[in-house]
Amino acid sequence: MTAVAADPGTVARLTEEESRRLAGEHPRCAAAHERARAGMPGGVPMSWMAKWAGPFPLTVVEAQGSRFTCADGIEHIDLCLGDTGAMTGHSPAPTVAAVREQVGRGITVMLPSADGPVVAEELTRRFGLPQWQFTLSATDANRHVLRYARHLTGRPRVLVMDYSYHGSVDEAFATVDPSGRVVPRRGNIGAPVDPAVTTAVVQFNDLEGLERELRRGDVACVLAEPAMTNIGIVLPDPGYHEALRRLTRETGTLLVIDETHTLCAGPGGMTAADRLEPDVVTMGKAIGGGIPCGAFGLSAELADRIQKAVELEDIDVGGIGGTLAGNALSLAAMRATLTEVLTDDAYAHMLPLGQRWADGVADVLGRHGLPWHVTRLGARAEYAFAPEPPRTGHDAAEADDFPLQTLLHLHALNRRLLLTPFHNMALMAPTTTEADVDAHTEAFDEVAGALAG
Ligand SMILES: Cc1ncc(COP(=O)(O)O)c(C=O)c1O
Repeated sequence: MTAVAADPGTVARLTEEESRRLAGEHPRCAAAHERARAGMPGGVPMSWMAKWAGPFPLTVVEAQGSRFTCADGIEHIDLCLGDTGAMTGHSPAPTVAAVREQVGRGITVMLPSADGPVVAEELTRRFGLPQWQFTLSATDANRHVLRYARHLTGRPRVLVMDYSYHGSVDEAFATVDPSGRVVPRRGNIGAPVDPAVTTAVVQFNDLEGLERELRRGDVACVLAEPAMTNIGIVLPDPGYHEALRRLTRETGTLLVIDETHTLCAGPGGMTAADRLEPDVVTMGKAIGGGIPCGAFGLSAELADRIQKAVELEDIDVGGIGGTLAGNALSLAAMRATLTEVLTDDAYAHMLPLGQRWADGVADVLGRHGLPWHVTRLGARAEYAFAPEPPRTGHDAAEADDFPLQTLLHLHALNRRLLLTPFHNMALMAPTTTEADVDAHTEAFDEVAGALAG
């Protein structure tokens, strides 16, 4: 499946026009970036922030709800929402109030606070798993779970889906070459070991490949998003999750479902919506309303096995935990966010907006005859440059077109709309409005018209 791209000449010309427009309308952001370059590589505090389309990333002075204002005083509609970290909308009032209160009463003591049990109970209500541990990021939740899985099973490898993303987890930056050999994924920086040693890679929705790898008996766990969201959206085939669960059980392999992004599907992610039965779920980002946090939930059986397999004397030097993990501030933020912000009512507002965004895009594509498609997963939706939705990460990757993507993001930004800088994704928050969605449809219509010629 290769990208059905627009004419490269047109893309280059429009990109140049849009770059000039962005620079012209953002002199203060340009100056802030120039100053930042003196002290930070690329002028950004974290390398990915250099990936925004345009000559420089905007400098934000304030973000509230689904809007942010840049240093030039321009208000933008935020459909990126911190790549899900702010799926709640920026600075949701209940989270802000809880954090304000906690910040004056002790931020981190390395002793439990009263919020822990409330958060664990709420996560159990949503995801079904009874035992919870907390981290500072979804990445850490995944890293910790992989360690436990290897420790308990005595097996060396973990299985991931091709083109998946689970945070900066070494084992997951692997792909397969044309001969089927596991190799580092393109862009893998300083891979610590050959990923073929640590990782099995199969295509999402490929049950034959999955079974073949699991029957080798050396896979500790499968780490998978229930639908892929990091190479565009790739939805599971009907029956895929049942088969995945059956095969992992038959082979004594733990099943870890990463709900960090798929929490957009509903209050209990796809685990609740599709009645999945993982041994572990992992998550982070949105559950703290933007305050750093992460969590993993364990089945009772697994929690018991871990308890028995880890010596108290060595618990702080085993590669799991962290001095700031489970701190009082993160837990206060999670408590308020889960009980007062990401509520059933919030989802009842967000999900139809996801549909409205996807319908708007589909309508534009149809009217301009662009042979692309749009996929929705709850409050998240995404368009991609191929006529049919992909069934695998490999197919989704093949349909990518970075210059075209860059143009579309830049065009949107100049119409005061921020899309996630990785592929063409939009996310709805409880604070997103129909007018926000329609503003995107209108802007997309304009650029689709220019591309269709
Ligand atoms: C599915 C999934 N898991 C884990 C992570 C890691 O999140 P963080 O970078 O906040 O640790 C991400 C980040 O995008 C993700 O998409």
